Amino acid sequence: MNRIKVGILVAAGIFMTALPAWAVQQSTRSSNLKFFRTNNCVLCHSRLTEPVRVSAHFYQWLNSNHEKHRVGCEKCHGGDPMAKDKVAAHKGVFNHASAESRLHPSNINTTCRECHEQAVDAFVTSDHFQKVLKDDGAPNCTTCHQHMANSVVYWPPDTVKLCAECHRENGSASKSLDVPRKGGDIVAAFTRADEVIDWSFYLINEGKKRRLNLRAEESELKKLQGILEAAKLKYHAFDIERSREMADQAFNSASRIKNSLAGRGL
Ligand code: HEC
Ligand code: HEC
Ligand code: HEC
Ligand code: HEC
Ligand code: HEC
Repeated sequence: MNRIKVGILVAAGIFMTALPAWAVQQSTRSSNLKFFRTNNCVLCHSRLTEPVRVSAHFYQWLNSNHEKHRVGCEKCHGGDPMAKDKVAAHKGVFNHASAESRLHPSNINTTCRECHEQAVDAFVTSDHFQKVLKDDGAPNCTTCHQHMANSVVYWPPDTVKLCAECHRENGSASKSLDVPRKGGDIVAAFTRADEVIDWSFYLINEGKKRRLNLRAEESELKKLQGILEAAKLKYHAFDIERSREMADQAFNSASRIKNSLAGRGL
C-alpha cells in the first residue's frame, strides 16, 4: 500500500479493520493490459458479453494482482494463448470442476506452486491438509483466494464461518470447537499488524521529508514485515497458535515504533 492512501486513511481516522484489504487496494490499481496485446485468451475474452458467468471472470482477472504482474489466463487454465481460434486456444482448458482441469482441487496445488512454492508447501505439508484430504469440502487455495486471488477471506466473520463448516457440533472437526473463533481472531490480528506497519512507514516518509535520520526504525520495520509474512505462512499451515503469536509480535513492535515517531512530532 502506498503512503498517500495511508495518509488519507489516517487523516480521516478510518479504521481499516472495517474493510477487507482488497477493497482498499483495488481503488488505485493500474492495469497492465498493454502487455497482453498478443494474448488471444485476453483479447477474445475481453470482448465476450455472454455467457455472463464466463464474461465476468475476465473482469475479475482485470482487477487482480495477477493481471498487474503479467500472469495471463493460460498460466492457470492452460491452453494456447497464441491460437486465435477458440477450439485451438481451448486445447487443455476445462471447467475447474473437471478432473482434467489444472484448477481441479486435485491439481490446483501443483498449478499454484509453479509460482507460490512457499504458500503451497506450507499448506500441503500441514497436518490439517492430511486430515481433510478425504473430506469433500476440504479447503484449497480458492476457498480463501477467490477467483484470480483478487479477493481473500480476510473479514473475521467470514473466516469464522469458513472454519465452522467443519469445526462445529456434529461436523467433521467437532473435536476443536474453539477453532472458528481463533481463526477469526488471526485474520483480525493480521489486519491490524498490516495497518500499523503501513502507518509507521508513512510516518517515516514524513520524517524523511524533514530530513530526520530514521534508518534504525526503517530497518526494524522491514524485519517486522518479514515476521508478519512468516505469520501468514504459518496460517497456511494451519499452525494457528504460532501464527497469532507472530502477528501480535509484529503488531506490538510496530505500534511501539509508530508511537515513538508520533512522539517526535510526526
Ligand atoms: C476466439 C475466442 C476465444 C479465445 C481465443 C479463448 N476463449 Fe475461452 N471462451 C470463449 C467463449 C466464447 C467461451 C464460452 C464457452 C464456449 O463458447 O466455449 C469461453 C470459455 C472459457 C472458459 C470456461 C470454460 C468452462 O467450461 O467453464 C475458460 C476457463 C476459458 N474460456 C479460458 C480461456 C483461455 C485460458 C484461453 C487462452 C488459452 C481462451 N479461453 C481463449 C472464447 C475464447
Ligand atoms: C505464473 C505465475 C503464477 C501462477 C501460476 C499463480 N500466481 Fe499468484 N501471483 C503471481 C505473481 C507474480 C503475484 C504478485 C507478486 C506476489 O505477490 O508474489 C501473485 C500474487 C498472488 C497473491 C497475492 C495477491 C495480492 O493481492 O497480494 C495470491 C493470494 C496468489 N497469487 C494466489 C495464487 C493462486 C491461488 C494461484 C493458483 C490458482 C496462483 N496464485 C497462481 C504469480 C502466479
Ligand atoms: C484459510 C484461508 C487460506 C487458504 C486455504 C489459503 N490462503 Fe493464501 N492467504 C490467506 C490470507 C488470510 C492471506 C493474507 C492476505 C493478505 O496479506 O492480504 C494469504 C496470503 C497469500 C499470499 C500472499 C503472501 C504474502 O506474502 O502476503 C499468497 C501468494 C497465497 N496466500 C497463496 C495461497 C495458495 C497458493 C494457497 C493454496 C495452497 C493458499 N494461499 C491457501 C488465506 C488463505
Ligand atoms: C491465478 C490463476 C488464474 C488466472 C491468471 C486466471 N484464472 Fe480463471 N479461474 C481460476 C480459478 C482458480 C478458477 C475456478 C475457481 C473460481 O472461479 O474462483 C477460475 C475460473 C474461471 C472461469 C469459470 C470456469 C471455471 O472453470 O470455473 C472462467 C471463464 C475463467 N476463469 C476465465 C479466465 C480468463 C479469461 C482469464 C484471463 C483473462 C483467467 N481466467 C485467468 C484461476 C485463474
Ligand atoms: C473441510 C473441513 C475443515 C475446514 C473447513 C477446516 N478444518 Fe480445521 N480441521 C479439520 C479436521 C477434520 C481436523 C482434525 C479433527 C479435529 O481436530 O477435530 C481439523 C483440525 C484443525 C486444527 C487442529 C486442532 C487441534 O486441536 O489439534 C486446527 C488448528 C484447525 N483445524 C484450524 C482450522 C482453521 C483455522 C480453519 C478455518 C480457516 C479450519 N481449520 C477449517 C477439518 C476442517
